[in-house]
Amino acid sequence: MESLRPNLRVAARRHSLVRRVLVRSCEAFAVALGGRALYRSRHLRPPGLRVRRERVAHPELPRGLHGFRVVQLSDIHAGPFVRQGDLSAVIELANSLAPDLAVLTGDLITHTTEEAELVREDLAQLRAKHGTLGVFGNHDYRGRREGELAARWAASGMRFLRNEGVRIEVEDGALCVVGVEDLEEARSIDLQAARACVRPGDFELALCHNPQGAPAFVRERCLAVLCGHTHGSQLDLPLLRRAGPAHPGARIELGSLRVFVSRGLGSIGLPLRIGAPTELVVLDFERGTL
Ligand SMILES: [Fe+2]
Ligand SMILES: [Fe+2]
Repeated sequence: MESLRPNLRVAARRHSLVRRVLVRSCEAFAVALGGRALYRSRHLRPPGLRVRRERVAHPELPRGLHGFRVVQLSDIHAGPFVRQGDLSAVIELANSLAPDLAVLTGDLITHTTEEAELVREDLAQLRAKHGTLGVFGNHDYRGRREGELAARWAASGMRFLRNEGVRIEVEDGALCVVGVEDLEEARSIDLQAARACVRPGDFELALCHNPQGAPAFVRERCLAVLCGHTHGSQLDLPLLRRAGPAHPGARIELGSLRVFVSRGLGSIGLPLRIGAPTELVVLDFERGTL
């Protein structure tokens, strides 16, 4: 496991012009060779697409949170390899899991804000009792139009938490879903503002695109942090692991806090994943101890 630094700011990775041209060229070449259809058939439906089941437990969990289910979708990266209609099997699978809450943990797009439109209608088909909440990832700030992106998706029923929280009242208590802006690209990150909805005795679920931010959420009643960003290394081969963000592991324990890092759904550069299957993370809350 890579070390996780306890701060909410991470230096943005700035890629050279040569690398950016290379990535775009690879993507265009792969699309011309049918890479989009290949990615959809291999990685955006079972059996390539996996369901990863995780549990968290707390002995004082409210009755209304026992059995509460969160389904996480991450790193969709609409663009060259994920376009309109490509997520239909993903949405169908997510809905079949009967979530109480659906969450999107960032990187909706690959290169431009317009790419988000390719998947907005599909993701609006997610069905969860308490709706769909999300946070932005570093890619979502491309062009600095994240405010426009948030407004457009809110109109489709998907709310992005930008240093904000949402309090979900349940029988015998409440769950506050707390979301922060991206550690690399946000203009400001304000955990205090994000936690403003939390009342004494509430339980928390944190959404933070970059797992490096997870240690900031360590507190007694924070049940879990859901992250993405790393793609599970995407091409999980020794020589290529350094090409993307450091992957600290899919499940991390920070004292009593559980951090779940989704391998995500999309792809950058090539319509390919090796040793890092696409996945939906299903998080079930239980009253008691594991
Ligand atoms: Fe990503
Ligand atoms: Fe990311």
